[in-house]
Amino acid sequence: MATILETKLLTKKFGGFTAVEDVSLSVDQGEIRFVIGPNGAGKSTFFKLVIGFHSPNNGTILYKNKNIENLKTHERIKLGMGVKFQAPSVFSELTVMENLSLANNREKSFNLDNLLNDFSLENERKTLAGDLSHGKKQWLDIALATLSKPDLVFLDEPTAGLSFEETEKTGKIIKKLNEQDITFIIVGHDMDFVKQIATKVSVLHLGKMFFEGSVSEVLSDKGVNNIYLGVS
Ligand SMILES: Nc1ncnc2c1ncn2[C@@H]1O[C@H](COP(=O)(O)OP(=O)(O)OP(=O)(O)O)[C@@H](O)[C@H]1O
Ligand SMILES: [Mg+2]
Repeated sequence: MATILETKLLTKKFGGFTAVEDVSLSVDQGEIRFVIGPNGAGKSTFFKLVIGFHSPNNGTILYKNKNIENLKTHERIKLGMGVKFQAPSVFSELTVMENLSLANNREKSFNLDNLLNDFSLENERKTLAGDLSHGKKQWLDIALATLSKPDLVFLDEPTAGLSFEETEKTGKIIKKLNEQDITFIIVGHDMDFVKQIATKVSVLHLGKMFFEGSVSEVLSDKGVNNIYLGVS
């Protein structure tokens, strides 16, 4: 399998504090990779480094074998990256359709009707995003990140605040998009969600890569249980 994203010894400091330290990670095309870890582990900072919101103090980022650490966010997005940040970035005062039209900035794009159906938003085209339920707001946010048929999509906590059923449906939506050649890197806390769709899991702890493996390897690792699940 071809590598789509590779970071080498990526480091980000805020003043004297190192939030991400020497993180090397390699993701194959076609994966649904989860990045998990306790609060403050550096997951969102890592995302922001890869998408270009922060510049690293050290290290390299290769996307499709090309160095991108000096590119601006919009240049990375043009190369085929999509992102959903931890805080929802839908425009509350715009309708669902208006939000989607704004995000449609690449030549490629999914058929809007199909996308709205997949995300159960087909009856809410004219609803203001701010009036959507929390779950549908999250789905709209994921739809915005995937609309332009990116090759690699980052989702930071896509199921935060969702019910069990909504989480399961989110997993099905992501799997379907993954079958259409979208690679995902997802930050998540919900282990049922991880079990449902992850192809591989990377565990960050105190800014460093702590463990990497299959879902079952991660679940059975004592160290991970200690730091992440709080069980010894
Ligand atoms: N802009 C910033 N300035 C200073 N410190 C920051 C900044 N962003 C993050 N940090 C710190 O870096 C560490 C990692 O934060 P980050 O948001 O990456 O963690 P996280 O793994 O995403 O946590 P959570 O699970 O709570 O979302 C934290 O200690 C945080 O306070
Ligand atoms: Mg975070």
